[in-house]
Amino acid sequence: MSEPAPIEQHREDLDLLLRGFQVSRMLRLVADLGIADKIARDGAVSLHDLAARCSVLPEPLTRVMRALAAFQIFQVSTDGIVSHSPRSLLLRIDTPNSMHHSARFWTGPGSWKAWGELDVAMTGGTPHEVAWNMSRFDYLRQHPAEARAFDAMMANFPDNRHAALAEAYDFSAPRLIVDIGGGNGAALRHILARFPKPHGLVFDREDVVTALKPRDLMDGRMTAQGGDFFKQVPGGADLYLVIRVLHDWKDEDCLRILRACRSAMDLNGMLLLGEQILEPDPAHGRPTGYLIDMQMMAMFGQARERTEAEFRDLLDRSGFVLTRVVPTRSPVSIIEAQPLPGNG
Ligand SMILES: C[S@@+](CC[C@H](N)C(=O)[O-])C[C@H]1O[C@@H](n2cnc3c(N)ncnc32)[C@H](O)[C@@H]1O
Repeated sequence: MSEPAPIEQHREDLDLLLRGFQVSRMLRLVADLGIADKIARDGAVSLHDLAARCSVLPEPLTRVMRALAAFQIFQVSTDGIVSHSPRSLLLRIDTPNSMHHSARFWTGPGSWKAWGELDVAMTGGTPHEVAWNMSRFDYLRQHPAEARAFDAMMANFPDNRHAALAEAYDFSAPRLIVDIGGGNGAALRHILARFPKPHGLVFDREDVVTALKPRDLMDGRMTAQGGDFFKQVPGGADLYLVIRVLHDWKDEDCLRILRACRSAMDLNGMLLLGEQILEPDPAHGRPTGYLIDMQMMAMFGQARERTEAEFRDLLDRSGFVLTRVVPTRSPVSIIEAQPLPGNG
């Protein structure tokens, strides 16, 4: 059995966690400046030149880069030369599943100020609404640059869920797959790249789909439709995807979304939820799972990550039966459900 860590080690670990916001905020700064992309993958640049490329002062940039290098994010030599480390390479935009977008998102103004109001959640309030006096999605509508950063982060989430979902399930039979709350279409692009038969339809808020480019829509294999999933979702598809959407909402709102899907579906259609199944015992769960749960609390108050039993209950109450849960190599599982007669 390994020796328990000494108390001083716990103190140092806890101290770094307490200062985590400082690291996160510096990472947004360097991502906003595009620094990882201004250093060649296997090259090196002086801090002076790097500052000039970013139109900032060398001295404060040096201090930020040095602090990040202490966390093995970039390498900074004592004579002021910067190069990449394995961690900083993940911040390059041309790295598959780049973490550049996450770096820009977590301490972006909307999220940052909402976390400052976290305490109100303890008495039933919604931190984001107290911070900004409006719902999260109204905020994103009014802040297009942050909204596009959010869409990009969702499409490049560190869990790589879209690729994992496409690998874990057989999508060869459906003719048309609609992705409800599909963001910028990343899940459908992964699925259609693997399976030649289906076409895709991404359904999301009007401002999200308006921002899509022809290449996002695979030059015609996908279409996009704007709308409100609380009112109506497109009919006529064989397969309905709802990925990482329900966790943004409290139970009553999830039921409204699921019932809108049920109303749009034929009895032989299929619904796939893509969600993390929350491990009830934190001694066994992944820390990021509970952090996502906390992000939901900060943004949406009563929105949450859910256990399998909680998903089963939501599906039972909205006219579906849960048929199976398919794990993927990401923390997100596929929860497959069939519509029940008479509940549309
Ligand atoms: C957490 S993101 C998930 C995006 C995507 N499914 C994924 O897995 O990356 C939730 C999505 O729901 C969309 N959304 C929120 N409210 C909506 C509404 N009322 N109608 C349609 N889409 C909505 C958001 O714009 C966002 O793209």
